[in-house]
Amino acid sequence: MIKEFEKHCQSTHLSTICAPLIELSNQAFAVNNGNIPKWECAIDSIDKTSLGQVSFKRPYVAIDTNIDATKLTHALKQLMPWRKGPYQIGQLNLDSEWRGDVKWDRLKDHIQPLKGKTVLDVGSGNGYFTYLMALEGASIALGIEPFLLFNYQFQAIRTLMSCPPNAYVLPLKLEQMPIDSHFDTVFSMGVLYHQKDHMLHLQQLMDITIDGGELILETLIIDQQYGEQIIPEDRYARMRNVWCLPSTNTLHHWLEQTGFKDIKLIDVTKTTPEEQRATHWIGDNTQSIKDFLDPNDSNLTIEGLPAPKRAIFICKK
Ligand SMILES: C[S@@+](CC[C@H](N)C(=O)[O-])C[C@H]1O[C@@H](n2cnc3c(N)ncnc32)[C@H](O)[C@@H]1O
Repeated sequence: MIKEFEKHCQSTHLSTICAPLIELSNQAFAVNNGNIPKWECAIDSIDKTSLGQVSFKRPYVAIDTNIDATKLTHALKQLMPWRKGPYQIGQLNLDSEWRGDVKWDRLKDHIQPLKGKTVLDVGSGNGYFTYLMALEGASIALGIEPFLLFNYQFQAIRTLMSCPPNAYVLPLKLEQMPIDSHFDTVFSMGVLYHQKDHMLHLQQLMDITIDGGELILETLIIDQQYGEQIIPEDRYARMRNVWCLPSTNTLHHWLEQTGFKDIKLIDVTKTTPEEQRATHWIGDNTQSIKDFLDPNDSNLTIEGLPAPKRAIFICKK
């Protein structure tokens, strides 16, 4: 996949940063991770003789193929948990924990058209949205995702495509992106609340966006009634790594402080069990949103904090 990225990258606006991206990615894949042989074996076991065309058949990123669904299920289950998706591969519905199409529907009519654009998907997971960005006609949609399993999931799905779209996922963090990266549209969805330093994340998003380019920022927020921001002392909805939950006013202010313009709040939605659900594709730990909420009050998390609500802001550099 890195070879295909290298070839394509040279003909895009990212040509000047191909070499460092590839070097950093190779370093990330070379780490000593005992699961890598299992993940590689799972991808190797996929039958590559029945490849198909990819398209968006809501809710699925769908691949039109006659591949044997039983054998494919066995291979893809080696790559669990499948948090992001869903995907449909021939007869197989890979129903991930999250219905990504629900988030996509909230934002797709508000963003600048992606046709011909150089797009970055920060914290892309297995690339579900990165595929949608490429299917919208991006000249290149680059997902960056430091968690290696999600990179292997992306590759597994990609190997099933006869003619993969211009989508790639590399095992990188935003902070590793070369300073001369320049993207027309940058997505940071579900990433800000994982950052210890939220202002640094916003500054880095600003740095890699071209002048006049667009940022789509999606993150957990709280209602104003709970104050300007909540910093969870311990876990939030059972997640260990949630650092900050701002109100939408606070987040607007942070974006302004960073220097973004034309800041628009386009959506605020409470996360529901329709969007995040336990499926057999997330493995033994079958807990999902309903297990993270107070059983007596679905407006609170199990820790007594406001239940997950997410906002989408769109702004310009
Ligand atoms: C909650 S998931 C969101 C996935 C997807 N963007 C979505 O909206 O559904 C956040 C992802 O961001 C990744 N991530 C966290 N910090 C990151 C960073 N500094 N740079 C890039 N990705 C990061 C995590 O590994 C995780 O897969």
